[in-house]
Amino acid sequence: MIETIVTRPIDGQKPGTSGLRKKTRVFQEPGYLENFVQSIWNGIGGVQGKLLVLGGDGRFFNDQAVQIILRMAAASGAARVIVGQNGLLSTPAASHLIRARGADGGVILSASHNPGGPEGDFGVKFNTANGGPAPERVTEAIFRATTELEEYRILRAPDLDLGELGIHRLHETEVEIVDPVADYAALMERLFDFDAIRALFASGFRMRFDAMHAITGPYARAILETRLGAPAGSVINATPLPDFGGGHPDPNPVWAHELMALMTGPEAPDFGAASDGDGDRNMIVGRGQYVTPSDSLAVIAANAHLVPGYAGGLKGVARSMPSSAALDRVAEALGIACYATPTGWKFFGNLLDAGRATLCGEESAGTGSDHIREKDGLWAVLMWLNILAAREQSVAEVMADHWARFRRNYYSRHDYEEVDSGAATTLVEELRAGLDRLAGARLGVLRVRTAEDFSYSDPVDGSVTTKQGIQIHFVEDARLVLRLSGTGTAGATLRVYLERVVAGPEGLAEDPQAALAEVIAAAEELCMFKTRFGRAAPDVVT
Ligand code: G1P
Ligand code: ZN
Repeated sequence: MIETIVTRPIDGQKPGTSGLRKKTRVFQEPGYLENFVQSIWNGIGGVQGKLLVLGGDGRFFNDQAVQIILRMAAASGAARVIVGQNGLLSTPAASHLIRARGADGGVILSASHNPGGPEGDFGVKFNTANGGPAPERVTEAIFRATTELEEYRILRAPDLDLGELGIHRLHETEVEIVDPVADYAALMERLFDFDAIRALFASGFRMRFDAMHAITGPYARAILETRLGAPAGSVINATPLPDFGGGHPDPNPVWAHELMALMTGPEAPDFGAASDGDGDRNMIVGRGQYVTPSDSLAVIAANAHLVPGYAGGLKGVARSMPSSAALDRVAEALGIACYATPTGWKFFGNLLDAGRATLCGEESAGTGSDHIREKDGLWAVLMWLNILAAREQSVAEVMADHWARFRRNYYSRHDYEEVDSGAATTLVEELRAGLDRLAGARLGVLRVRTAEDFSYSDPVDGSVTTKQGIQIHFVEDARLVLRLSGTGTAGATLRVYLERVVAGPEGLAEDPQAALAEVIAAAEELCMFKTRFGRAAPDVVT
């Protein structure tokens, strides 16, 4: 029986950088999830007769949310919903399923790398028929729908057994439960030289993949261990847990510190990697050699021709504006376009769809290509494995060659987390108001060349997105970017991005924080973080 429940708009259901993210207990409040899901349906013109994909990263509340969304899809007349077994799908696998099955869109349940559990975070994201995160015009329509909502529709029915593969029926909707790994693994096999990677492992090459108790575990096991022959145990923390084992599933040196300790210690294997809560982020680390996400993107672009799926060359590349410009010099050498977009994967969608970019990436550990419309953690790992197999070099050797050829962009991000929202907004507003006076000014020993508030005109659809971060270029080939996070669930998070390019073949092996000291000092002089936020130092340095 379909029930129509009278409701009222709930404040604050505005999708951010990547869908709607809130504390789990907020999503568990009566009607909260239902209101948002009905608003998605309303915002996209209903789901009557449509084909949808549904799954999540398995965090706490994932299973219940899947049941609710299925009943709401059925109540609104969806023709079919394809669901990952037990409600699980990594974000990249969901993007691929939407595309491969010609779905009208999909709902992905995840708060990415944010901790899960009753006290953690939950999130809901809608992806469109191209497999990518809904673009701004769609998220705006969804948000508008949340502010006008008067009722939602839901089927009264018992829970489905999400463990049982095959076709089930929910009222007039077919629910197809699929193996979450199979299609994705087949896609990877088409893109990469599995024989070469298999031979690499057979020759004694050793890796450690830390799935961080999150969704990539089953994917990594099936691909790295079963199909590619990495020794059993190469993938660790491989069982997805609702609270990610109490951890923070963000693949960076801070949160993946155990892996970092291993890779810098005496027992280090040849290669280390990690992925995040929903499987779209990655961390790459060689023996004694961490690779920043911006460098990883540049290396992948410079070596993509060695990988079968990209042997035909790259159409272009794209990076988020705060990501380092290491990619730009590779693009220049290859003679291809390089786009700088606002933060958030949704801005790459048009470039990928229009065939203007083949590879994209963000400094926040997101790398991907036009094989799907999301960033893809395991894909980046396979890219590296394929490149290492083809070049017959270690990660450290690949990096040394790369920097010698393209120069090195030292890069770091300093995050001030959960600071007072008012203080953070005031800082950004003051910076914005003072931009004109900054050009030519000195900040510490550095001289400002240009200062702007980044805005982006999409070359494909002409849409303009403003206020995407304060960007300051220094005469000394350095750059400072400041922006407020759009994914936090408490207070405000200020992100400070620091970059400096070394001039010549010297100084390629410095400690990044030391190499960036003058840019860090310039940022402190400009923003006075200590006085404003009462913080002696940033909370997270990556
Ligand atoms: C952060 C990252 C951004 C990424 C997003 C979703 O967003 O900075 O690059 O696309 O998470 O994974 P932010 O919190 O900065 O808005
Ligand atoms: Zn993620």
